Amino acid sequence: MCWRDAGVFACHGVLAGWLDVGNPRNLDATCADSRFTPITAEQSTGSARSSLASWKICLPASLEYHVTERPYVLLSVAASVDGYIDDATDQRLLLSNDADFDRVDEVRAGVDAILVGADTIRRDNPRLLVRSAARREERATRGLPESPVKVTLTGRGDLGPTARFFTAGQVEKIVYTASPAADKTRERLAGVASVVDAGDPLDLNVLLADLVSRDVRRLMVEGGGTIHTQFLTAGLADEIHLVIAPFFIGDPAAPRFVGNGTFPYHAGHRMELAEVRRIGDVVLLRYLLG
Ligand SMILES: NC(=O)c1ccc[n+]([C@@H]2O[C@H](COP(=O)([O-])OP(=O)(O)OC[C@H]3O[C@@H](n4cnc5c(N)ncnc54)[C@H](OP(=O)(O)O)[C@@H]3O)[C@@H](O)[C@H]2O)c1
Repeated sequence: MCWRDAGVFACHGVLAGWLDVGNPRNLDATCADSRFTPITAEQSTGSARSSLASWKICLPASLEYHVTERPYVLLSVAASVDGYIDDATDQRLLLSNDADFDRVDEVRAGVDAILVGADTIRRDNPRLLVRSAARREERATRGLPESPVKVTLTGRGDLGPTARFFTAGQVEKIVYTASPAADKTRERLAGVASVVDAGDPLDLNVLLADLVSRDVRRLMVEGGGTIHTQFLTAGLADEIHLVIAPFFIGDPAAPRFVGNGTFPYHAGHRMELAEVRRIGDVVLLRYLLG
C-alpha cells in the first residue's frame, strides 16, 4: 500500500488546508510511516481543525480525496434587528456606531486581505483602508503594507477604475472575474488592479487558492449579502462577526445579510457562539464555524 503526505499545514496557528474525505469507511487505515498519523472520521470534520494544526496525515493513494488550501475566512457584517444590511435608498445607511467602526478597523488591521462584492463597490464606493494611523504604523513595523490587499469578484466586469476601491491606498487590488468577462475587465482596469480569471462560473475555491499563493492567510469578507451567502453555503467561512443595530428596516426591497440557500449551519448543527460584546447601542456576536 502506498502512503502519501496529504499536505495539511498550519498558518498563523490555524489549519489552512484539510481533507475532504468522501467515504468514512476509508478512514480507518493504519499508517505505515510513523511520521504521519492516520485521519479518523472525527478528525476529517471542521471541528477538529484547530487541534490538527501541527499534524501530518497519510492516506492510501487509492483513496479518492482532494486537499483544499485556503485562508482563514472571517465574515464581518452589520445588520438591523430584522436582518437587513442596508435600506433600499441610494444613500449609504450607517448601521453601526463610531466605537464599532473602530473595532472593525482593528479587525481590518489584523488581516492580509479584505474582500467585498462588486455591487458593494458600485453602491457604497468604500475605501477599505485601515483608518487608524497607529494601526497602519504597527503593520508597517511588521513589514506589512499599511492596509490589507483589496479583493473583489465580478461576473460581468462592470467596475470603473475611478472607484475608491482602486484609487485609495497604495495597496494591491485584485479582481477575480468569471472567464467570459476576463479580457474586458483587464482592459477596463489596466494599471489599477490585477485581474484574475477564476473560471466559468467563477469558483470561490480557485479564488481562495490564488489568495493563498499570494500569502493571504487571513481574509476578511465584508459583504454584501450575495457574497456572504456564497461563502456560508459553500462551507468556506471560519468565523462570523455579526453586529446588530438597534432598529428595523422592514423593506423586502433592501438587501439582507444572507439570501436563500442551503446552509451547513441549521437547527441540527449550530454554530459556536464565541463572544457577545456590547458596543454602545449595538451588540457584536462572534460565531465560530467548524
Ligand atoms: N451592513 C454591512 O455590513 C454591509 C457590508 C457590505 C455591503 N453592504 C450592503 O450590501 C449591498 C450589496 O450587497 P449585494 O448582495 O447586492 O452585492 P455584493 O455581495 O456586494 O456583490 C454582488 C456582486 O458580486 C459579484 N459576484 C458575487 N458572487 C459572484 C460569483 N460567484 N461570480 C461572479 N461574480 C460574483 C457580482 O458582480 P457583477 O454584478 O459585477 O457580476 C454580483 O452582482 C449594498 O446595499 C451594501 O450597502 C452592507
